[in-house]
Amino acid sequence: MWRTPGGRAGRSSQPGLSTYTRAVPPDATHADRPTGRSLPLPPLELRERVGATTSASAVSERQLRRAPWWHEDPAEAWLRQGEFLVGTMREQLPADVTLDGARVLDFGCGAGRVLRHLLDVVGEDGDLHGVDIDGPSIDWLQANGEPWIHARQCEESPGLPYPDDHFDLVYALSVFTHIVDHWAGWLLELRRVLAPGGILLTTVIGPQTAAELRLPSPEDPGMYGRVLGNDWDHGGPVTTHDAGWVAERWGRALDIVSHTPRITGQPWPHDIVVSRARPEPVDEDDLLDTGADGVAEGRAQAAQLRLLREDALMRRAVLDQQTAEAVGAVQQGRADVAARTPGRLAELAQRHAELEAARAAGPGPHAGGAVRPAGTPAAPAPDGGARRSGGGPSTGAGSAARCAPSAPCR
Ligand SMILES: C[S@@+](CC[C@H](N)C(=O)[O-])C[C@H]1O[C@@H](n2cnc3c(N)ncnc32)[C@H](O)[C@@H]1O
Repeated sequence: MWRTPGGRAGRSSQPGLSTYTRAVPPDATHADRPTGRSLPLPPLELRERVGATTSASAVSERQLRRAPWWHEDPAEAWLRQGEFLVGTMREQLPADVTLDGARVLDFGCGAGRVLRHLLDVVGEDGDLHGVDIDGPSIDWLQANGEPWIHARQCEESPGLPYPDDHFDLVYALSVFTHIVDHWAGWLLELRRVLAPGGILLTTVIGPQTAAELRLPSPEDPGMYGRVLGNDWDHGGPVTTHDAGWVAERWGRALDIVSHTPRITGQPWPHDIVVSRARPEPVDEDDLLDTGADGVAEGRAQAAQLRLLREDALMRRAVLDQQTAEAVGAVQQGRADVAARTPGRLAELAQRHAELEAARAAGPGPHAGGAVRPAGTPAAPAPDGGARRSGGGPSTGAGSAARCAPSAPCR
C-alpha cells in the first residue's frame, strides 16, 4: 500500500516542487552512468544528517578520528563511510548471494550515502531504489541519481510503492535504531517486498554500544526506546535491541541468518542482522504479542518506564540550564542598560537645559515661542557662535534658536 503525502514525520518539500534542480540530462544513457564517487555530492547539511563527518554534530573530533573511514576532508570522509558500509554489508551476506544484477531497496536511504556505492556493485543490470521520510534528501537523490537510482519519499508509518516479492536485497542501516512505534509493521512491509530467498539486512544498537552512547539498556532483554520526540534533524528517537529479543520477536517473521555485534565501525558500532522471510503468514499482532512470559514482559515495561523517567529528568535538567542561561542573559542586558543610563540621562538633561536656555533667549519662529521681554539680550550660544538646535545645521549667524523641525515647540 502506498499512501499519498501528508502527515509525514520528515521534512517535506513543497508539493510538486523539488528543492534541487535536476542535474542529469533527460537523455542520459547507460554510458553516462556514474560511479559511487563520480555522482555529485549532496550538500553538507544532507550528508551530516545521515553520517557525521565533522565535530559540528554531536560527535567529537576524537571519536571521529577513531573511525576506520576517517579523513580530514569531510566530503572524502563521507564517501569513505559509504564505501566502508557497502564493504561490511557484502561481508555479512551469505556466500551464495550475489549482487550482480540485483534489485535492491535501501530503506531509510537519506541522500544515498550507501546506495550510491552500489552503482559499482550491481552492474548495469542492477536496479537501485531508496525510500526515506526526508523530503530534501529524496529531492536531492531524485535530481542527481535518476535514472540510475530511483528515490521515493515515504511516510513514517508502513507502506511502500512496490509489488510483493520484488527485491533481492532490502537493507536498512541505522533505521530500526530509530523506529519506535511502527517497527513490527515496517518489518512486515520489508518482508512483503522481498523476493523469495531475498535478504533483509538491518542494523540495531546492542547493549554495549547503547552504554557507550550513555543510553544504558536494562538487564531485561528487550527493545527500548529513548529520547522519544527527538526531532529527525537531531537524529530522531533512539532504540536499542538485545540480540535475544531480536531472535525471538523478529524471528516470528524472519529466519535470522546471522546477528553480528558491533560491526559497522566507530564511533558507535551497530550490530548487523541478516535474515530471510519465513514462509508462514504473520501479522503485526503476532510480532507485538508479548508472549507467555508475562513476568519478564512486566519487568521490561517497568524498565522502559524507568528509562523514560530518566530521559524526562535529563531533559528537565537541560531545560533548567537553558532557562538559567536565558535569565542570566536578560539580567546582564538590564545591567548593561542601567550602566549606560546615567550618562545618557546627563546628556538629555544637558540638551534640555540648552533648549530651555535657547527658548529663554528669544522668540522662535513658531507661534507660542517664549517672548523675550524687550531689552533682554539673547543668551549667547555656548560656542559663542550661532546656536543650533537638535544638532542640526546652523540656521545662520545671529538666527534665533529653532526647534527641531519635527518636534513641537513648547
Ligand atoms: C541515521 S540515518 C541513516 C541513513 C542511511 N541509512 C545511511 O546509513 O546513510 C536514518 C534515516 O532513516 C530515515 N527514517 C527514519 N524513519 C523512517 C521511516 N519510517 N521510513 C523511512 N525512512 C525513515 C531518516 O529520515 C534518516 O534518513
